[in-house]
Amino acid sequence: RLLIIDFGSQVTQLIARRLRELSVYCEIHPYQNVTDAFLAEFAPKAIIFSGGPDSVMREGSPRPPKSAYTLGVPILGICYGQQVMMHDLGGRVEAGEHATAEFGRAYVAPADTRADFLNGWFLEGKEQVWMSHGDHVAEIAPGFEVYGTSPGAPFAITADLARNFFAVQFHPEVHHTPNGATLYENFVKLAGFSGDWTMGAYREEMIAKIREQVGDKKVICALSGGVDSSVTGILLHEAIGDQLTCVFVDHGLLRLNEAEQVVAMFRDNYNLNLIHADESDLFLGALEGVSDPEVKRKTIGKLFIDVFQKYADQIEGAEFLAQGTLYPDVIESVSFSGGPSVTIKSHHNVGGLPEKMGLKLVEPLRELFKDEVRALGHELGLPASFIGRHPFPGPGLAIRCPGEITRDKLEILRKADAVYIDQIRKHGLYDEIWQAFAAILPMRTVGVMGDGRTYDYAVALRAVTSVDGMTADYYPFNHEFLGETATRIINEVKGVNRVFYDCTSKPPGTIELE
Ligand code: XMP
Repeated sequence: RLLIIDFGSQVTQLIARRLRELSVYCEIHPYQNVTDAFLAEFAPKAIIFSGGPDSVMREGSPRPPKSAYTLGVPILGICYGQQVMMHDLGGRVEAGEHATAEFGRAYVAPADTRADFLNGWFLEGKEQVWMSHGDHVAEIAPGFEVYGTSPGAPFAITADLARNFFAVQFHPEVHHTPNGATLYENFVKLAGFSGDWTMGAYREEMIAKIREQVGDKKVICALSGGVDSSVTGILLHEAIGDQLTCVFVDHGLLRLNEAEQVVAMFRDNYNLNLIHADESDLFLGALEGVSDPEVKRKTIGKLFIDVFQKYADQIEGAEFLAQGTLYPDVIESVSFSGGPSVTIKSHHNVGGLPEKMGLKLVEPLRELFKDEVRALGHELGLPASFIGRHPFPGPGLAIRCPGEITRDKLEILRKADAVYIDQIRKHGLYDEIWQAFAAILPMRTVGVMGDGRTYDYAVALRAVTSVDGMTADYYPFNHEFLGETATRIINEVKGVNRVFYDCTSKPPGTIELE
């Protein structure tokens, strides 16, 4: 196994992700925990030093234990990790001044000497890389040579081939270093990894970890019917069986027949303790007369916590709360550029729950990305149709019904949405689209049906492609599809006499309407 020593970079998990893509098993451990004794016991086959925000010149800044360098295993140092290596092994690091600090895209040119570590690199000359450093290496350590330089980093790629130590100033793990994965691939090959680690193995490891963390205590889990919480619930169920109770809160803002389908899926396939909390009257009552998007979101978020707590209180002796937090949720608030970001929308999650209830968290998916969670869901036997479902927001249909929510509007919305999704499935487009849904607009328009005048609601259809939901493009349906769908919705859903298609990308729009 490979050990990643985490010096606090925001993108350390991306290193792990790149390694998992290469089917290499790795573990991330914070530098504080990595002592000589730890290293001896862990016996890594290779080590990666992550980046980090500190300066090696600062007294007491993070360091790996000295024995890391004498284990005889390959080491790769990234950014701060490079500086640490140089500093520890006899080179020199200089404090960043404005002129030498580099943030963002840069281009690394090859040096005259070549190394296997760089197979697949520089095939077309320069390589684009992502730099993010204040300090820089001023003198490389004895034994090292330079294999690549950039205008701001003369020692962008360095290596001591005799000891298999590699050190780069940039971040090969981020997308902005397009050929970065190749460096990891070369590194793990060189370290002798055969790339035979699988999601099945991950599942077993997670189960063992959950058992270790939870012991014989009880755990509660909020199931939303989405992939993340479902995988969390099932994984926990496998690990601790009846010590787990899941609560599915139905806030009355779900899609057509969704509550029944979710409950049936769990009851039929998994024999887990499931409470179906139908609290739609409570939520819809509280939302009466509320039209401000943020007030709506906060009302739902607060009630959700109250309701969840009410059910959790019935489960005696619960000490843990299981949550389907993914890695992107962990880093979402910390933007890569480091700038504080404004609140566009108050996201609905159960983040405030644990402190309020005095519960400890179990977050088995904290290291995974969405596609990896889907792979794990597949591994756990979740039906493919369930795994492939489009994301659905916590506040549900409330944010697809701009303005005041009424039961009538919700009913129209549910039916229109079901017809729309049916159309998308029939045309084989569902899997091409990141998210598609109908929204009901807060207005009525005049139409004519048969010989009569109508004065009914307008529905907006939305469909976007996206990688992570952070940015999105509207989906380019052809006109035939749109025409046919509009006709079906107007014919099949009473109360709708007009259909719009939303051609706004994100930014400037957001995916949801509120
Ligand atoms: P926006 O509308 O912000 O949505 O572009 C981006 C993605 O996040 C989903 N979304 C939410 N998910 N709680 C969630 O769990 C929320 O409060 C929430 N708001 C938006 C949205 O469906 C899209 O996938």
